[in-house]
Amino acid sequence: MIEPWQPGPVLGIETSCDETAVAVFDPRRRADGDTGVLSDVLSSQVALHAPHGGVVPEVASRAHLAALPSLFDEALQRSGLGLDELAGLAVTCGPGLVGALLVGVSHAKSLALATGLPLVGVHHLDGHVRAAFLEHEEPEDDYLALVVSGGHSSLFRVERGGPGVRHHRCLAKTLDDAVGEAYDKVGKMMGLRYPSGPIIDRAVAGHDGPFVPFPKARIKAGRRGMDKGRLDHRAFSFSGVKTSVRQHLRQHEIAPLQSDESLKDRPDLLAILAGFQETAVAMLVEPTVKILREEGLHDLVVVGGVSANSRLRARFREEERRRGFRLLLPSPRWSTDNAAMIAAAGALALESGRRDGLELAADPALVLGVAS
Ligand code: KG4
Ligand code: ZN
Repeated sequence: MIEPWQPGPVLGIETSCDETAVAVFDPRRRADGDTGVLSDVLSSQVALHAPHGGVVPEVASRAHLAALPSLFDEALQRSGLGLDELAGLAVTCGPGLVGALLVGVSHAKSLALATGLPLVGVHHLDGHVRAAFLEHEEPEDDYLALVVSGGHSSLFRVERGGPGVRHHRCLAKTLDDAVGEAYDKVGKMMGLRYPSGPIIDRAVAGHDGPFVPFPKARIKAGRRGMDKGRLDHRAFSFSGVKTSVRQHLRQHEIAPLQSDESLKDRPDLLAILAGFQETAVAMLVEPTVKILREEGLHDLVVVGGVSANSRLRARFREEERRRGFRLLLPSPRWSTDNAAMIAAAGALALESGRRDGLELAADPALVLGVAS
């Protein structure tokens, strides 16, 4: 029989991709105007991976290993707490790069062994969803959560179970690239640094010239019992628009950005980026709003790195005004990877009575919830 958890500060560790992060979150502090985050520190590996145009798994693992011990000390120190004042440990156990995940999971297990603190493994996407509730109250009723990041474009119906229990029912996901991955690949073709998503966002926000229209993917149904020939809005796809951009660059013999150029000097590239973004955003907003209506839900949560995108946020806000649903967006700092969201998801898991032992494994392909 597991003893009920006495709510208190939870230390969270995130090492699934290219950010090493540690945070302390106290669910008792979480209230209007207080996120409950006592400390939140992060070391980004962006500069290490940038020359390779993407994340190099081996480099990521080594960098996590080097950064984690001092980040752990710093997070604890900034929280103003001693190890003995913590009430739990949470760590991302999947999905992600296996070597990267292993660094965080091993560290968390050693801590659990040394301190006797209860430990829970957290699904990275569950963490992203919890990020929305650092600043907003979680809806009492079921809600829809769109998770858009470098590795995922997925739509979940989230249902409350018993105390601390949430069921995630996957309603749609990408058939190929994640939307953040498409941003990064399009950026790479044009000679932009990795990760290109924020660069494209900023550059296009300041562009009021023409844009190149790209077609939206039309995904044929025929899956999950739908009529063949019908268009399936329950699947995302971003590799088509990425390929259209590549073909356009080739056909028009457009050179990538040169090292001595700024995007401001390249209206030809800006017009393509603006067109790409408009299509990618429409391919997220339109099916999401449709599914929200079909599911009869009133609350929509949009989270993950790409939810920091200003155009995506503005389009969802427009739809919110027009259709009268409620949109919950985290501040951009909680959209991208961080450990506060992992600690918050961990606190909920501990409240539900979940505990993981020292057999907790890193699972690079961990699935969240059930498919509908
Ligand atoms: O959630 P996240 O930090 O890490 C993953 O779990 O993948 O998301 C990173 C992804 C990257 O592909 C990055 O290019 C994209 O989010 N991203 C953005 C923006 N900020 C981050 N994409 C478009 N606009 C942004 N402002
Ligand atoms: Zn993420």
